[in-house]
Amino acid sequence: MSRKIAVLVGSLRKGSLNRKVAEAVALAAPGGLEFSFVEIGDLPFFDQDLEGAPPAQWVRFRDQIRAADAVLFVTPEYNRSVPGVLKNAIDVGSRPYGQSVFNGKPAAVISASMGAIGGFGANHHLRQSLAFLNMPTLPSPETYIGVAHELFDEAGALKNEQTRAFLTQFAGAFAGWTETQLGKSEARIAA
Ligand SMILES: Cc1cc2nc3c(=O)[nH]c(=O)nc-3n(C[C@H](O)[C@H](O)[C@H](O)COP(=O)(O)O)c2cc1C
Repeated sequence: MSRKIAVLVGSLRKGSLNRKVAEAVALAAPGGLEFSFVEIGDLPFFDQDLEGAPPAQWVRFRDQIRAADAVLFVTPEYNRSVPGVLKNAIDVGSRPYGQSVFNGKPAAVISASMGAIGGFGANHHLRQSLAFLNMPTLPSPETYIGVAHELFDEAGALKNEQTRAFLTQFAGAFAGWTETQLGKSEARIAA
């Protein structure tokens, strides 16, 4: 069965290493996973006063997440946490209260950084939000991509074979995790 994966990239810049990592994961993934990159840079800041007539970009974003079977987060670390643009997208998707589009969707987190520790801080701050959002999040392999600026060629293609093998392993684990989690929720609905 084909599964739709919404990909949220926490960097907006054109040359984003995180976007390149996300694209490399999509290329490495087993058949049956369909990746779509969801725009988050155009989302107006979350403001509860706007809920009466939500901005069109919020509506579009919420619909895109709702249509996905699972969500892959690929993020840089900004000041040891998650970039504001990604946190804003999480806040937009999580409301109105009781109508979070993230609720119950399987997730996975990748962080990539030029630094040696691969965005560990951002990765775990993000996991804290995902726990609150009731998103069962792939525990292993933990995926911190360090020194990411050395992994790609000038055309933006992954040139490091060890990283490709690791991302292939990650993608296989995420595919399995998604099936298991969706199977559990389908079983709950049938019961
Ligand atoms: C505002 C800002 C804060 C940053 N803070 C961190 C940090 O806390 N840890 C880290 O490893 N890298 C940090 N960096 C460097 C990023 O890891 C690096 O710019 C990375 O390439 C950003 O991801 P991107 O290529 O996907 O845009 C920071 C960069 C910016 C612009």
